[in-house]
Formats: sequence, C-alpha cells, structure tokens
Amino acid sequence: MWKMRCVLCLLLFCCSAAFVSAQRSGNVTSKWLTLSGDAPKVIARGGFSGLLPDSSYNAYALAQAISLADWVAWCDVQLTKDGVGICFPDIKLDNASDIDVLFKNRHSNYSVNGVTQTGWFSIDFNFKDLALVSLKQGVYSRAPNFDGTPQQILTVQDVATQLKPPGLWLNIQHDSFYSQHSLSMRSFVISLSRSVIANYISSPEVNFLRNIASRLNPRVTKRVFRFLGEGDIEPSTNQTYGSLVKNLTFIKTFASGILVPKRYIWPTDSSLYLQPHTSVVLDAHKEGLEIYAADFLNDVPFAYNYSYDPVAEHLSYIDNGEFSVDGVLSDFPMTPSASIDCFAHLGKNDKPQAKLQIISPEGASGDYPGCTNFAYTKAASDGADVLGCPVQMTKDGIPFCLGSINLIDRTDAAQSEFSNMAIPVPELQIKSGILTTNLSWTDIIQKLKPAIYNRWLDYRLLRNPKARSDGTFMSLADFLTFAKNATSVSGVMISIENAAYLAKQGLGVTGAVMDTLSKAGFNNQTVQKVMIQSSESSVLEEFKKSNYELVYMVDNDIRDIENSTLLEMKTFAKSVVITKDSVFPSDSSFLIGQTNIVPKLQSANLPVYVRLFNNEFISQPWDFFSDSSAELNNFVLGAGVDGVITEYPGTAARYRRNRCLQYKELPLYMSPSKPGSLLELMTPQSLPPVEAPRPVLTENDVTEPPLPPVAKVNPASDNGTAKAPASAPNGQSSVVASILMSSVAILLAIILVS
Ligand SMILES: *[C@@H]1O[C@H](CO)[C@@H](O)[C@H](O)[C@H]1NC(C)=O
Ligand SMILES: *[C@@H]1O[C@H](CO)[C@@H](O)[C@H](O)[C@H]1NC(C)=O
Ligand SMILES: *[C@@H]1O[C@H](CO)[C@@H](O)[C@H](O)[C@H]1NC(C)=O
Ligand SMILES: *[C@@H]1O[C@H](CO)[C@@H](O)[C@H](O)[C@H]1NC(C)=O
Ligand SMILES: *[C@@H]1O[C@H](CO)[C@@H](O)[C@H](O)[C@H]1NC(C)=O
Ligand SMILES: *[C@@H]1O[C@H](CO)[C@@H](O)[C@H](O)[C@H]1NC(C)=O
Ligand SMILES: *[C@@H]1O[C@H](CO)[C@@H](O)[C@H](O)[C@H]1NC(C)=O
Ligand SMILES: *[C@@H]1O[C@H](CO)[C@@H](O)[C@H](O)[C@H]1NC(C)=O
Ligand SMILES: *[C@@H]1O[C@H](CO)[C@@H](O)[C@H](O)[C@H]1NC(C)=O
Ligand SMILES: *[C@@H]1O[C@H](CO)[C@@H](O)[C@H](O)[C@H]1NC(C)=O
Ligand SMILES: *[C@@H]1O[C@H](CO)[C@@H](O)[C@H](O)[C@H]1NC(C)=O
Repeated sequence: MWKMRCVLCLLLFCCSAAFVSAQRSGNVTSKWLTLSGDAPKVIARGGFSGLLPDSSYNAYALAQAISLADWVAWCDVQLTKDGVGICFPDIKLDNASDIDVLFKNRHSNYSVNGVTQTGWFSIDFNFKDLALVSLKQGVYSRAPNFDGTPQQILTVQDVATQLKPPGLWLNIQHDSFYSQHSLSMRSFVISLSRSVIANYISSPEVNFLRNIASRLNPRVTKRVFRFLGEGDIEPSTNQTYGSLVKNLTFIKTFASGILVPKRYIWPTDSSLYLQPHTSVVLDAHKEGLEIYAADFLNDVPFAYNYSYDPVAEHLSYIDNGEFSVDGVLSDFPMTPSASIDCFAHLGKNDKPQAKLQIISPEGASGDYPGCTNFAYTKAASDGADVLGCPVQMTKDGIPFCLGSINLIDRTDAAQSEFSNMAIPVPELQIKSGILTTNLSWTDIIQKLKPAIYNRWLDYRLLRNPKARSDGTFMSLADFLTFAKNATSVSGVMISIENAAYLAKQGLGVTGAVMDTLSKAGFNNQTVQKVMIQSSESSVLEEFKKSNYELVYMVDNDIRDIENSTLLEMKTFAKSVVITKDSVFPSDSSFLIGQTNIVPKLQSANLPVYVRLFNNEFISQPWDFFSDSSAELNNFVLGAGVDGVITEYPGTAARYRRNRCLQYKELPLYMSPSKPGSLLELMTPQSLPPVEAPRPVLTENDVTEPPLPPVAKVNPASDNGTAKAPASAPNGQSSVVASILMSSVAILLAIILVS
C-alpha cells in the first residue's frame, strides 16, 4: 500500500525506532492525577490534521506512526443520504474537500441548530457519489500543498479496518440535524457496533447520549458529553452549556466523561493571559467523570503565559501538581505524545540528557525586552548556559548591551524626545535610525525605555505585551557583574558588529570590550567562559591574544564551506555560528534536504552553534509540526549541533532534560524527521517553488582587512568624556558585507508563507 509507505517514509533515520511503545517506568505512571491514575490519552482530531487534510488516510496514518502507542483516532461522523457514516470534520463537505468544484450546483440551504447555512451537505449525496471527491486542507493558514494528492473520503468502517487505531472516538455533533432529515445516528452507531469497536462516543446533545445508553456496553464504549460554548444552548434541556457544567451530577446520569474546550479549565482574560484555573477537572473527578480537553492547536496563538511553547501548554493540563485531564484532543498528536511521555513530571534540576550549549543572545528576549535585567534574570533561571551581550557604543564611549545599534529596534526611541533624530544610515542598511552612538549613556538610561522586540509582528504575534517595556538597560560592566553572580550560568557571549563603522565615529568597540572584561576580572578567571562573537573576522583578529573563545558568525544562509575556507576560519575562530537554513535548507518552509556543513566544521574541530531559535510556530518549517521542541530535536539528534542560540532558553533547557532521550529506542514523537520527506507527499504541481541555491562560503568571504584605526572626532557636543582607549591597528576601512543582511531578513526569507 503505497500511501502507507509514503507516510512512513516521513520517518526518520532510524527505522528500528518505528512503532516502539513508550517504556514508562512504574514511578512515572503512578504520578498521574487522572481519574484512573493512568497516563492521559492522546486523541488525534481527524488524524494529524494540523498538517495533512483532516480525516484523510494519510492524516490518520501519520498520527498512527507518530503518537503514543495507545492513541485514539477521532472521527467526526456525518451521514450520507443513503445512511453511510463517513469521517468528515464539518457538516458541510465544502469545508475540507473539493466537492464544490466537482458538483458545482449541488449546494443547498439547511437550518442547522436554527441557523440557515448554505453549502454542500452530506445528506444530499449518496456515498458512491463521493467516490471522486478528494479531501483537502480546510484551514487557510495551513499548507495547501498536500491537496493535489487524491485523498478519498473514508467511512468510519474504513478508518477502523484500514488503520486499526488502538482507540476509536466517534463524535456525533449533529444528531438532531440528521434526525430532522430522517437519518438516524442511533441506528448507524448500533449497526456499526456489530463490527467495529468504538471506544468513545461523544455528542453535545443530551438526548442522543441518553437514547443510545441501553444499546452500548459501557465497558466497551464510553459516552462522553461534549460541551460547546458557555453561552450556547443545549437543545434537549434548553440550558446553556455554561449552566450544565455546574450540574455534573446530572451529566453523570448519562455519561461517563465530559469533553470541554480547554478554556473551561484554564480561562484567559481579554488580553490572552491565563487566569487561575477553574475547579472543573477536580469537580468532574469527584463526580467520577473523566474529563477531556479540546482545542489543542500548535499553530494559533494561545495564552502568553506559555511563551508560544505548545509543550508548556500541554503540561499545564496534565502535569500541574493539582490535577490532570484524562486526555487531550489535538490536531498535532505528536506534541501531546511527547509531552506525556518525555516531558511530564520532569524536575527543573533533572540531569540534561543531551550535550547541548544553550545560548541566549539577549537573555529571555521572547518574554522580556532583550538585554534588560529582566531578560537576563529569566534566562538564568530558565536554564541558559550562556548569556549574550550584543555590545553597542554610546556617544560617550560606554559599551552596553542591546540587540541592535538602532535604538528604534529595541527601545521607545521613536516615541521619545529624540524621535526627530531618525535618519537613514545607508552604510548600515538602516532606513530610519536613531543610533546608539547618537546618544549618551545618561540619555539612554534616563530618557528611553526598553521595548520588547516583536520579531513576528508581521504575523501579528506579539510577545508578552504586559511586559513590553519592563526592565532596565545594562552596561557591559553591569552585565558582567550580573553574569558573575549568576551561578547557574557557565559563560557569557559578547557580540561585536559594525566595528569599522564605530571606529570611524571615534569609538573603539574592541578596546572598550577588552577593558571592561579585564576590569570585571574576566581576563584571568576560568569559572565562566568568555565567548567573543562577530561576523567580522577583523574583530576576532583583535582578540587573538586573549584566552577567550572566538566565535565566528556566518550570518547568511550557505549550502557548503570550501576546505580552504575552513582552514582560514581556524586561524581566527574556535567555534562557528551558522543559520538554521544552513543546516536544513527549505523552500517555502518545507525542508528540502540537509547540508554537510555541521559535520564538516566539527571534523575541523570547530564546534557549531545554530541560530536563531524561536517558539513562535511561524518560525518553524512545516516539517517540525509547529512545535519548537520538535525543531530543537531535529537539530540536536538529526544534525548533532553543539549548541543553539535561542530567544526562549527555557524551552531548550526543558528539551535537554527530556527523558525520552535516554530510551534505548527513540519513540517516533522524539525522533527527527527526514528532511525532504514531506515533499514526497505532494504532487509535482503542489511542490513549493524552488528557491535560488544558497552560496558556498569561500575563503574570500571570510578574509577581511584589519579594522581601521579609531578616528579622532572633534568633541563639539561632547566635552571629552569619550574614553575607552582603543587598540588601533593600521589599515584601511573594511567593507563589512556580511553584516548587511540582518537576521530578521534572513528569517523572513525562510518563512515566506506560500
Ligand atoms: C522508582 O524510582 C526509584 C529511583 O528513582 C527506583 O529505585 C525504583 O526502582 C523505581 N521504581 C519503579 C517501579 O520503577
Ligand atoms: C472550515 O471550518 C472551520 C471551522 O469552522 C473554519 O475555520 C474554516 O475556515 C472552514 N474552511 C473552509 C474552507 O470553509
Ligand atoms: C440559499 O439562500 C440564499 C439566500 O439566503 C439564496 O440566495 C439561495 O438561492 C438559496 N440557495 C438554494 C439552493 O436554495
Ligand atoms: C428555552 O429557554 C428560554 C429561556 O431560558 C425560553 O425563553 C424558551 O421558551 C425555552 N424554550 C423551550 C423550547 O423550552
Ligand atoms: C440539573 O439539570 C437537570 C436537568 O436539566 C435539572 O432537572 C436539575 O434541576 C439541575 N440541577 C441543578 C442543581 O441545577
Ligand atoms: C499569566 O501571566 C500574567 C501576566 O504575567 C499573570 O498576571 C498571571 O498570573 C499568569 N497566569 C497564571 C495562571 O500564571
Ligand atoms: C548621529 O551620529 C552620526 C555619526 O555617528 C552623525 O553622522 C549624525 O549626524 C548623527 N545624527 C544626529 C541627528 O545627531
Ligand atoms: C546575586 O545573586 C543573588 C541570587 O542568586 C541575589 O540575591 C543577589 O542580589 C545578587 N547580587 C548582586 C550583586 O546582583
Ligand atoms: C587577575 O588580574 C588582576 C588584574 O588584572 C590581578 O590583580 C589578579 O591578581 C589576577 N588574578 C589572578 C588569579 O591571576
Ligand atoms: C575537503 O576535505 C575533506 C576532508 O579532509 C576531503 O575528503 C575532501 O576531498 C576535500 N575536498 C576538496 C574539494 O578538496
Ligand atoms: C562638560 O560639560 C558639562 C555640562 O555639559 C560641564 O558641567 C562640565 O564642566 C564640562 N566639562 C569639561 C571638562 O568641560
């Protein structure tokens, strides 16, 4: 069966890992605060519908391959005119199939729960009419590239017999609608039960569950009452779901469990922050009801408290010390599977299971304005090994930490009294800039506020808006004092860019950094390592005499490195930073392969750090399932990188502790995906457009003339406070070509959504 093989070819290096069930220890199992004490169930809504067309064979097969061994396949049952039960996510077939193209004029109007809807309804078609209809992606923000591959609508029987999922969940959303059209869900379910075991039957209609009770063996099939919106009216009782949830004793009379939207458990306020959890899980358990939570989607914004980390969200439902739901309904079953088996019940101090340096270039800049005391404090407590300080210079020669030389990028400068100072700076490719070199340190700390950098603003994904201007700026000296005191931190990474430009302004950045490091005692200690990072080899040359780890950053995407380049790099660097795309190149966010760059650098004894990891789902290629932990796993297990440079160090630190890494056989939900495998599920017409090949890094790209001497500037506006004596070698101005492309541009180029 080629379809099956093709989905499985998504999977991995290590074929022996296939279908390994989790080897959970007795200790872990006993920790679950579910009703039964067993691990919560993973329920895959329409299969792996977050990636492949909902309810398609491929979606179920991928879920089967990648989920916990006892996963449950969810099927939304609809009935055709001739009474055949099919799995389809919506009462209208045009929602996720091409029926509207095949049968142009066969749409009609029906009243569904009192609201008239227009569309292609299953009750107007016999099952054999649907033979040529193909399932497609119904969610616009998801990749449509798999739609070209014919995917027939499946009957419930097909799903049960062809896939043989270990658990089957039938959701009967619209019994009363089908009854009004003389089709009986009850008869369908009863006749199905003669050949197929449904482990769960859910419905938002009280009467349906009540009527079917006598015909189902409760030990075989659990009846689950599904809650809709709090204000929606349940048709049989004429009560709102919001009032029924306060009457669980009544629910218990006809159901053994409930399924609730996740906000019933962890509500959010209007600004998308979590409020304290409700008591509904504990109430349900007290009543003897199981409780399942719905709406787990990795690719929509969820509460800011989770920092865009879907595993963190799952853990708050299954491992919060007070309760655990009995199962989660997800479009991305890999994430709950890994959350349950690999990440739940980990202690913050558990031993790392993978050798991986976690470097946070601006502190926890996904949660707080970068390079502030808040961001650094969070990064240290989240488990970062190395705290970064991108050094900028003030007009009066003070080196300080900020993610950009342009104050507008990381502060409120554009709204400040200095806003009229904004000018273009073509030399630095800045369209409108107020440079750090235009203001004194006193002006910056007294008159400006930090501003969180919303890297994915184009997609309207904000970072922790409540903290958007929290924290204070830190000079390099403050930063070093902080880092020295942070005992969990094993090193600092000081990044220097634009050194030649600064020299021309009379600011010697390399000298200022050396001085500050010495004054802070970092020049002759061995407790914390000091990394000096630059994309300019001329900067690293200046530090050659020091004991610091010199880190060369290749900041554009490359596909290979020439041997001669490697030799040259070794003359000025001890380790190398490359982009994610230089490891796993992608077209339109689909991986197209894997380069040889990491092993090449490593065999030249150059450890490889990769940048820049983010939690926001939009930053990850589709192959990583909108899950930042899955992305990390691909780089660590799939590419063997030595370190990651991340704005969310907490996610990386938790990834590193995950217990599945010590299993003898990796479960598939913790295995790297095979680059390029998703392309195999597409027809040639649906392949993403091929992007220009990345360049090969040549020796020329990495050699630079020495930095120019630090210019003497006339102290017109500045009466001589400029200090920071710079070591000023001779030489002419260098063309700093490699820094022209900012990291933002690189990332956006990766992610261009088709
Ligand atoms: C539970 O964990 C302890 C140590 O953490 C170990 O000694 C014991 O064998 C474990 N028990 C089971 C049933 O796995
Ligand atoms: C299908 O239904 C879902 C949920 O109601 C909706 O978000 C989506 O936009 C619909 N898609 C189409 C193509 O109608
Ligand atoms: C459905 O209703 C719309 C107006 O609400 C009407 O224009 C249309 O003709 C109706 N379609 C059918 C097939 O009855
Ligand atoms: C349902 O309840 C509403 C008020 O809660 C009432 O106005 C309405 O008549 C009721 N309908 C039925 C069919 O009982
Ligand atoms: C619970 O719901 C049932 C059915 O609607 C109703 O008869 C009963 O009075 C309700 N109990 C409470 C405490 O609201
Ligand atoms: C979520 O974050 C907000 C803002 O930081 C905080 O006030 C709230 O207590 C947090 N919610 C939970 C449940 O921790
Ligand atoms: C900012 O500084 C640059 C040189 O560092 C200078 O050319 C420019 O005129 C300054 N802008 C303002 C508004 O002072
Ligand atoms: C050093 O760190 C401790 C906590 O680890 C903190 O209480 C103390 O204030 C810090 N001292 C300085 C000088 O930052
Ligand atoms: C470190 O350097 C400082 C001055 O730079 C010196 O006073 C101190 O003795 C040195 N310490 C060690 C352990 O070498
Ligand atoms: C580059 O070096 C590797 C390993 O030393 C060697 O196998 C390879 O042939 C070299 N490539 C070229 C083009 O010299
Ligand atoms: C520098 O300027 C400040 C005020 O702008 C003044 O108080 C100070 O005396 C000046 N220092 C020198 C050395 O001119």
